[in-house]
Amino acid sequence: MTATRIKFAIDDGSTNVKISWIQNGRLKTVISPNSFRKDWKSAALLSGQAVYNYTIGTTKYTYDATSDKALSTTHIEYQYDDLNLLAVHHALLQTGLPPQDVEVVVTLPITQYYNPDDCQRNEERIEAKRRNLLRDISLNKGELFRIVDVQVMPESLPAALSHLINSSVSEFTRTLVIDCGGTTLDMGVIVGEFDDVSAIYGNNEIGVAMVTDATRKQLAAADSDASYLVANELIKRRDDMAFVKSVINDESRIPQILERINTKIQELGDQVAYEAKKFVKNPNRVYLVGGGAHLVEDAIRRAYATLGDRVVTLDNPQSALAREICLYHSASDAVPLPEEAVADA
Ligand SMILES: Nc1ncnc2c1ncn2[C@@H]1O[C@H](COP(=O)(O)OP(=O)(O)OP(=O)(O)O)[C@@H](O)[C@H]1O
Ligand SMILES: [Mg+2]
Repeated sequence: MTATRIKFAIDDGSTNVKISWIQNGRLKTVISPNSFRKDWKSAALLSGQAVYNYTIGTTKYTYDATSDKALSTTHIEYQYDDLNLLAVHHALLQTGLPPQDVEVVVTLPITQYYNPDDCQRNEERIEAKRRNLLRDISLNKGELFRIVDVQVMPESLPAALSHLINSSVSEFTRTLVIDCGGTTLDMGVIVGEFDDVSAIYGNNEIGVAMVTDATRKQLAAADSDASYLVANELIKRRDDMAFVKSVINDESRIPQILERINTKIQELGDQVAYEAKKFVKNPNRVYLVGGGAHLVEDAIRRAYATLGDRVVTLDNPQSALAREICLYHSASDAVPLPEEAVADA
């Protein structure tokens, strides 16, 4: 009975999987970081943390949040390989729901979903992604969700769907969506309410990682934990001095570290703004999404100063795409109540 099956909207990015679904009429969202390595972990005696040991074919994998041997998920093949299958199943387990048959809507980077030259759907890649997620996978000493149907949507662009439908756009309005993610910068131009996609852009050298990498180096030089997790948290909470002191052991280095982080954030903003202007000089409106949206917002506002408040950063920009896809695919007779909670990465 498909009517009772839960449908999950899953924005399976290269650094974090964002997953949204509707439960008891409410929109729920969870963010699940990607950090897998080969081989299994033995059950930790005291930590009380769940151990996730997976098998795909004959290969063993484990979830390891702080491993420096974590397998890279930032290459394009990731979209069609074991790690993507792992990331999606692992994220499903983080929803807290009992494993069951589910339908999923996942995403492909815009430059994979569309052919860059004519902006037409690339059916072959879409089918490759679908098939990848229908493959077998098992969890040692545990049960996994069973994915029975997969739909694919483009990354970034649908994040603006409800904004476009609720604001008075004409068929000529050109909306620029800028998605600053963990490792890539993706952009696209939507014509009208979603009548057409007129241009796409992808750059896997510009992303929050530029700031994260610099922060890790600074932390290491101040004799402090330099994991991705801690570095990313410090970037987010750089204005919270109590937190800053809790992660930087050598306090004399604090001003220098914060200055370096701010310089890197500015550099990221400048690069995104430069690429955006080069891509589209005069859009009618701009939407910012992705985990890096807040970091680049000022630079984008300056670059498109005449647009004023038509430059919009979506609420909770990191998970905006998953939420919008979820709302779009939810049955119209089950209009969800406002969101309950967004668990941050
Ligand atoms: N409020 C915030 N301030 C600063 N950085 C943030 C914030 N929220 C998330 N991030 C950072 O954004 C990055 C992840 O963004 P996102 O989830 O959009 O990337 P992704 O979709 O996995 O990557 P990509 O789109 O490049 O494949 C992480 O580095 C995370 O620390
Ligand atoms: Mg992304």
